[in-house]
Amino acid sequence: MITSKELRKKYIEFFKERGHSEIPSASLVPENDPTVLFTTAGMHPLVPYLLGELHSEGKRLVSVQKCVRTGDIDDVGDSTHNTFFEMLGNWSLGDYFKDDSIRWSWEFLTDEKWLGIDPEKIKVTVFEGDVDAPRDKESVKVWQECFEKLGVSAEVFDKEKKNNEDARIFPLPKEDNWWGPAGLTGPCGPDTEIFIDLGKSVNFESCPNAENCRPGCNCGRYIEIWNNVFMEYYKTAEGKYVLSRQKNVDTGMGMERTLAILNDFDNVYETDVLAPIVAQVKTLSHCHCEGEARSNPVTTCKESDDGILSPTAQNDNVETKSIKIIADHIRTSVFMISDGVFPSNLDRGYILRRLLRRAIRHGNLLKMPNGFLFPLAETVIEIYKEFYPELENNKDKILDEIKKEEEKFEKTIKKGLKEFEEMINLYKQRNLEAGLSNIDDIFISGEDVFYFFSTFGLPLEMTIELVKEKSNPINLEETKKQFNEEFKKHQTLSRTASAGKFKGGLADASEETTRLHTAAHLLLESLRRVLGEHVFQKGSNITAERLRFDYSHADKLTDEEKQKVEEMVSEQIQKKLPVSFEEMNLEEAKKIGAMGVFESKYGEKVKVYTIGKNDDIFSKEICGGPHIKNTSELGKFRIKKEQSSSAGVRRIKAVLE
Ligand code: SER
Repeated sequence: MITSKELRKKYIEFFKERGHSEIPSASLVPENDPTVLFTTAGMHPLVPYLLGELHSEGKRLVSVQKCVRTGDIDDVGDSTHNTFFEMLGNWSLGDYFKDDSIRWSWEFLTDEKWLGIDPEKIKVTVFEGDVDAPRDKESVKVWQECFEKLGVSAEVFDKEKKNNEDARIFPLPKEDNWWGPAGLTGPCGPDTEIFIDLGKSVNFESCPNAENCRPGCNCGRYIEIWNNVFMEYYKTAEGKYVLSRQKNVDTGMGMERTLAILNDFDNVYETDVLAPIVAQVKTLSHCHCEGEARSNPVTTCKESDDGILSPTAQNDNVETKSIKIIADHIRTSVFMISDGVFPSNLDRGYILRRLLRRAIRHGNLLKMPNGFLFPLAETVIEIYKEFYPELENNKDKILDEIKKEEEKFEKTIKKGLKEFEEMINLYKQRNLEAGLSNIDDIFISGEDVFYFFSTFGLPLEMTIELVKEKSNPINLEETKKQFNEEFKKHQTLSRTASAGKFKGGLADASEETTRLHTAAHLLLESLRRVLGEHVFQKGSNITAERLRFDYSHADKLTDEEKQKVEEMVSEQIQKKLPVSFEEMNLEEAKKIGAMGVFESKYGEKVKVYTIGKNDDIFSKEICGGPHIKNTSELGKFRIKKEQSSSAGVRRIKAVLE
């Protein structure tokens, strides 16, 4: 068996031998990256250097980076997806390029001295070319040489050809084989992705794509383990791809997946970084589920005596999935808190809260004892403390936050879940009385969901998940839309309501922070209009008292610039501009020129918040919200302080009076 410790060590050693310097993992909370909530790849902290700034450690870097990708949250429970993972990465900052990068990946993967993976199991994808950039012929050539050297035939997949059985190199379009830019503009380029082919036996029968099942298909046959990005382009604000002056390599290898492959495990939960958490979940729940088949079935895993928390599809898969979800979410939560994220109803804090509450709910499905996350968190710290000493240093803080969230859940959410169950039954009863053939078909109104959110703190996504478990929900998009409208309505109401009336969910998403959040959008756009389009948001932190806003700009604001920015924000407030949002996919958001960076992948829906309307639109930003309804609710905007934050980044502290 190869352990996580050995794999990290081998990777670092291999690249050090090839002239790379090791750099430490950056925080999960990006320090100087525009608006991404979490560090989602090893390249995030390196963006300034990919753009040409000199790195003190040189032009060849290697790291193990903590990453969080919550876009994959619904896939957690399968064999390969996690919300937290470690990325092994190596970089060339204007130094080596495709040839060395591919050859080294190949050597590391296949050489007995390193990972010794059977080359027959490896398949790769490359960029097929389009109007923006040509086909990546160089990568194809290097791959063919690598494969052939080890006696493995390396045919390129040909769409026109009937029998492509032997194909090993697959040219694919931008959706699959292009990385970046991290923001709307920035460094990007074609990539080549390395997959392990688990063979036809795995899921192949059930693959809906059987004829066309190839790397990239998500039936489970192909596992992507490494992505080599060749950053030779820069995407401009006009959406053009121009060749960049500096050509970089950015690679990322998923540690848990690779470990699972190397050890012939069925899934990442058997690796040494997750197995102890899974084992502890099983012990605590007295549940002896073994994979898909249970050797020692214990009914308490499935049944709930009050009938409230039991899933509708009561089978082993449900249990296995719950175990995986708990293991995944507690691990991510521990790392997030260690890096300074606390449960709340906004941004990062909301995501953390969602993970913790979802884990607790799945714990309830498994009949875990109250407070079960606490000992699991201790296990996570034990597993990782040697490599990430910050976990041990922040142990008290981590455990304390988890305990608090568990207590809140016990107090309010359990009641909510019970009431929720009653409501679903009522809907079904009504269907029955109305003589409907399928009583499970129900439409849950956004108002109902909002009630559970504001009264019991049930996150929207969790409520939706519950509806799906208990019934057959109709028109969930409409439910979500109504919920968001309700959310906004109540924020406006809460300002006039007597203090304390809207405690619960909204108490945390306090009206002050929401107002400052909208002010941040006005501030960013004003800075861009006054200082220029090089200004991007590099981070923000909002408390009920003030807005702290980091942005890219080299110089101190002059008094005149500061005044102009303040005036521009105030002008938008006086204009009483409406604030609205629309959901669209990433590509559409880019097309309409919305600002912002996000963790989502191609095709995923994002919210675009617009301030203003018709021909008086001031700003458009991709953002999760929430926001106020109209800029007239903001009051007087003032910049209190303007100072340097780090190289090329300035920081503003602003208030609403
Ligand atoms: N940025 C690329 C990825 O995340 C390679 O590191 O896949």
